[in-house]
Amino acid sequence: MPHTSIKAVIPAAGLGTRFLPATKAMPKEMLPVVDKPAIQYVVEEAAQAGIDDILVIIGRNKNAISNHFDSVPELEEKLKDKGDDDRLRRVLESSDLADIHFVRQGEPKGLGHAVLRARAHVGDASFAVMLGDDLIDERDELLTTMIAAHERTGAAVVALMEVDPDHIHLYGVASVEETGDDGLVKVTGLVEKPKKEEAPSNLAIIGRYVLAPDVFDVLERTEPGKGGEIQLTDALQELAADPDGPGVYGVVFRGRRYDTGDRVDYIKAIVQLAADREDLGPDLRPWFKEFAAKL
Ligand code: UTP
Repeated sequence: MPHTSIKAVIPAAGLGTRFLPATKAMPKEMLPVVDKPAIQYVVEEAAQAGIDDILVIIGRNKNAISNHFDSVPELEEKLKDKGDDDRLRRVLESSDLADIHFVRQGEPKGLGHAVLRARAHVGDASFAVMLGDDLIDERDELLTTMIAAHERTGAAVVALMEVDPDHIHLYGVASVEETGDDGLVKVTGLVEKPKKEEAPSNLAIIGRYVLAPDVFDVLERTEPGKGGEIQLTDALQELAADPDGPGVYGVVFRGRRYDTGDRVDYIKAIVQLAADREDLGPDLRPWFKEFAAKL
């Protein structure tokens, strides 16, 4: 496994209004995707990229997330007594993935504001931001490529993905130039949630960023933008427009990604991941076929 000194920051303090009432008393990052909460996939992805220090930004209902990554001795004892080694291993895994810290956002004033809450923990070092409701399939590589691009350029690196123009208004969108390096583009401008007609491209920022600590100074002075929230995209636009800085680069991702904060995508994630699982797929695949034939 690779090792990196980069820390990960997982913002998980949003209100999750699209999932109400499920998210009334539970963060959306704790919604189960098959049999693990969404955020556990993200922590596993960080660990897979060699990150062993993770800061989760939590909001109200904070306990659900911190309890999940804590050990539960009574449960472990019960499973041990029953000889249920497989489930015991899976329970232990969730508390053993990385060194996980928590900080509260207080009020959900936007993703940029959530990231700023990480300043004291991250210090004067580069870090990754990984949205806790955005899953990258473990079979597809993204984060290590982004960390390598950040180390090469010294610039902020965002993950970009081509999205359907009808969905572009839901994302931060980039205008880009080729770099000559396959899959790596220079970001020349960024706009948060543009109208379809005003979008500079169909390349949307998805929930992975590798940033230098200079972004904190920019976030400190970033005014609320779209939706009255302090937007990370607006801070990155300032970095992209700075002629004296290293700018912003984008790694174009063409793999499998699931936005579990969106209801349709959430259901697709469960169906796809369950169908591919060795323990569940053989029972599910024939049923899916039968079900689909009746639609
Ligand atoms: P979203 O815009 O998808 O989250 O934020 P939301 O506002 O919770 O969702 P809806 O639209 O109401 O359903 C993207 C990510 O940023 C985090 C969210 O938890 C999510 O991981 N976030 C957003 C924060 O941590 N704090 C905020 O103030 C806003």
